[in-house]
Amino acid sequence: MSNIVILTGAGISAESGLATFRGPEGLWEGHRVEDVCTPEALARDPAMVLRFYDARRAALGRVAPNPAHRALARLDAEWPGGLLIVTQNVDDLHERAGAKRLIHIHGELLSALCRKCGGRARFAGAMLGDATCAACGAADALRPDIVFFGEMPYEMEAIDAALARADLFVSIGTSGAVYPAAGFVRIARAAGAETLELNLEASAGSALFDEGRFGLASEVVPAWVDQLLAP
Ligand code: APR
Repeated sequence: MSNIVILTGAGISAESGLATFRGPEGLWEGHRVEDVCTPEALARDPAMVLRFYDARRAALGRVAPNPAHRALARLDAEWPGGLLIVTQNVDDLHERAGAKRLIHIHGELLSALCRKCGGRARFAGAMLGDATCAACGAADALRPDIVFFGEMPYEMEAIDAALARADLFVSIGTSGAVYPAAGFVRIARAAGAETLELNLEASAGSALFDEGRFGLASEVVPAWVDQLLAP
């Protein structure tokens, strides 16, 4: 087994203190996340959308990677074969734990996208009231660099190529509710990969996995990595 693809979702960051989307705390100021993360919401009420993401960006400073993020970063550093972490999360906890071979399929909180020039750049502050694009100078042009529902996820070619050659596909902390990520297990199976789900509980796609290990990511993920790296 040499090539591993790992998909992570909000569940891997839950124990760091970041709310998941479809858990009991999945609402924000009474809004369903699906009502905020859409191009229509951005057009209809840009201040509300910018405020939502400003609050989530500010929360990053109050949280830290947990043992699951650190275990994946160790695997990334020590695994001699191919390895790719595809995260649906827009937080920076994988990076802060030290992960390198990482793709953010749904974008990142710490990045801004210019609606005028299309430029993407690191952005760490509050966008409401400070949305001037540093690249093209357009005022009020920045939006969160987040892939909204209905928009094209990032780096799908690289992800598809990695899935096509995967020997092992591991899904961690995701409900399997949102495509294309929810379909990755099928692509990996078609490529002949073994499939493993590490989650708090069975998800929508659990029946598609060869094996499932259920429990807290901070416990289940380090145990799996230890087993994989054991001499
Ligand atoms: N350890 C492991 N798994 C956990 C933990 C935990 N401590 N806490 C929650 N989970 C699991 C839940 O059981 C659930 O299956 O994490 C999953 C979280 O599911 P969602 O809230 O739906 O988050 P996610 O799957 O990442 O959502 C996918 O939907 O809203 C969009 O773009 C957004 O990237 C997001 C996408």
